[in-house]
Amino acid sequence: MIRDKYPIHTTLSTSAMRILERYEKELGAKNLVLEQALLGMDKLRFREKIDPQSVSRIIKRTRTGIRGFDELIEGGIPEGFVVVVTGPPGTGKTTFSIQFLLEGVKNNERCIYFSFEEKVEQIIKQSLRFGWDAGEYIDKGYLEIFGFTMLSSEEIIEIFNVFKPRRVVFDSLNIFFDEKEFRKSAQWRNILKEIRDKKITCLVITEKKHGLDVREFDDFDFMGDGTIFLDKKLMKELYPTYFFQIQKMRLTKINEIQQPFEFSDHGIELVGARNLERRIAVFATSKKVQEEIPTKVNPDDPVRPV
Ligand SMILES: Nc1ncnc2c1ncn2[C@@H]1O[C@H](COP(=O)(O)OP(=O)(O)O)[C@@H](O)[C@H]1O
Ligand SMILES: [Mg+2]
Repeated sequence: MIRDKYPIHTTLSTSAMRILERYEKELGAKNLVLEQALLGMDKLRFREKIDPQSVSRIIKRTRTGIRGFDELIEGGIPEGFVVVVTGPPGTGKTTFSIQFLLEGVKNNERCIYFSFEEKVEQIIKQSLRFGWDAGEYIDKGYLEIFGFTMLSSEEIIEIFNVFKPRRVVFDSLNIFFDEKEFRKSAQWRNILKEIRDKKITCLVITEKKHGLDVREFDDFDFMGDGTIFLDKKLMKELYPTYFFQIQKMRLTKINEIQQPFEFSDHGIELVGARNLERRIAVFATSKKVQEEIPTKVNPDDPVRPV
């Protein structure tokens, strides 16, 4: 039906279309000259709009609070983005997300954590390990944590309407949706529309059965405006460490180099390549020392970790 009504001027902006329609109605016929002129004006306006300088100026960036991370993505995640945080188990996805929300509440932004597998207390405990008092922000009304949530998409949208969050985390989407179905699922599309309309910056955690070195994608990876992959591996077959890679961030020039990170007393922090080299060297020496003194080990001693 719409095609019948607007047979050829579908690339015109709404206001240009209105001018054209009014004129053609009065004239009782199509007016190609006017249409071309309006199209030309639209193009000019569009060009102005996508001037790279003005685009970078208007993008508001949401800082993650992860030391060293925001610098790799021009200062933060663009406001209103849905970013997939993915990786195998135990690689820091939950920690990363808690840290992201706490950066928000510190700036008086309302934040929500939807966990599909963990209890609220567990998340609060995990945050206390890094000296963050999530409970304090819950009491102040800036943070909501839904543990073991069984909420429907309608309820989630209702919570958005009432609480008006600026940042939201879903941990993890694999529990909430079937990977193969979710992109077409009306439930997810409804949630996504609300996130877009309300410009909520959102981290969506997904689980991988493989590390960074396997270039394999699942359906969740195609959904986000950005993808951050977290992993842990042995450096020089010796030193175990965590890595993340920013694989995608729309509207942003990204540094895609795999970055070593660690869990410090303040949460996740970048280590930096030079520090990593130094740490591997220290680790290698301590291992060597141990290998040189095996005879001194009393077999009755309890086994201690390296
Ligand atoms: N305070 C800490 N110090 C050192 N390592 C930690 C600390 N907290 C968590 N970790 C490590 O991070 C891993 C879990 O982090 P988490 O964010 O829950 O991962 P994921 O959500 O990816 O499963 C644990 O396996 C643990 O080794
Ligand atoms: Mg987790």
